[in-house]
Amino acid sequence: MTEQTPVTQAAAVKVPTLPDAQTVTSVQHWTDRLFSFRVTRPASLRFRSGEFVMIGLMGDPHPETGKQKPLLRAYSIASPSWDEELEFYSIKVQDGPLTSKLQHIKPGDEIILRPKPVGTLVHDALLPGKRLWFFATGTGFAPFASLLRDPQTFEDYEQVIIAHTCRDVAELEYGRQLIETLRSDEMMLELLGEENLKKLTYYPTTTRETSPKMGRITTLLKDGTMFADLEIDGISPDTDRAMVCGSMGLNTDLKEILEGFDLEEGANSDPKHYVVEKAFVG
Ligand code: A2P
Repeated sequence: MTEQTPVTQAAAVKVPTLPDAQTVTSVQHWTDRLFSFRVTRPASLRFRSGEFVMIGLMGDPHPETGKQKPLLRAYSIASPSWDEELEFYSIKVQDGPLTSKLQHIKPGDEIILRPKPVGTLVHDALLPGKRLWFFATGTGFAPFASLLRDPQTFEDYEQVIIAHTCRDVAELEYGRQLIETLRSDEMMLELLGEENLKKLTYYPTTTRETSPKMGRITTLLKDGTMFADLEIDGISPDTDRAMVCGSMGLNTDLKEILEGFDLEEGANSDPKHYVVEKAFVG
């Protein structure tokens, strides 16, 4: 009788070289400041669209001990909860400890991914409503790239508005292509529903390059331009729910604007009218 040895079995399994290693499957560079990438998804990872996880690489060896420590940052998962892979959308900071290295990853490379998703940009943190607003600047679009591919977003609301402000037109491209895919890809149309996608309004703006709609989203809200463009009377706690993801400045300014419309901030344990999260890697 032949006996299958444990060595033979182990040889068939790829041994990860990093703790919590996942393999990069694709990388796309959008501008010299922005890139997105996809990695394998741990079989056991469950998350709610809009949540974030810690990801990273091994840091440089310590000069004396030679020991390496993981260098991790919070990243919103940009893919929806049903996707087989995980997608991330990142800034490239040339002297940033993590992104100066992460920007060079290639398919086949490994990254570290701690499989513990958390976050407040989730449907559970909002009370039922009629209209859902997503407000993002820069890579703050990432959690909304996840939520916009989740059927629940369109099942729960009569109208969904995604406002994205970037410095220039090229920085809007990741979001623009995602919206285009929702509206044209057969699989997305079937999953989300062609009728449901009519509920979606995309409102991109730039601040440093001429485009059809110029200005910070906060300014366009305060001066009434956005309401006039969308033919909406205003924002009310009776009907409107909002999720905000951007720089500290954007988050603070939008909180003030939303609270000016009597919306209250919610949390997983206490759902209310709006939720906020920092676009982490700045
Ligand atoms: P601006 O060009 O006026 O600074 P960044 O690339 O620096 O993260 O910025 C992304 C976008 O967010 C830019 O268009 C920037 O506009 C805008 N922005 C920065 N701060 C705020 C804020 N407090 N409110 C609204 N938009 C902001």
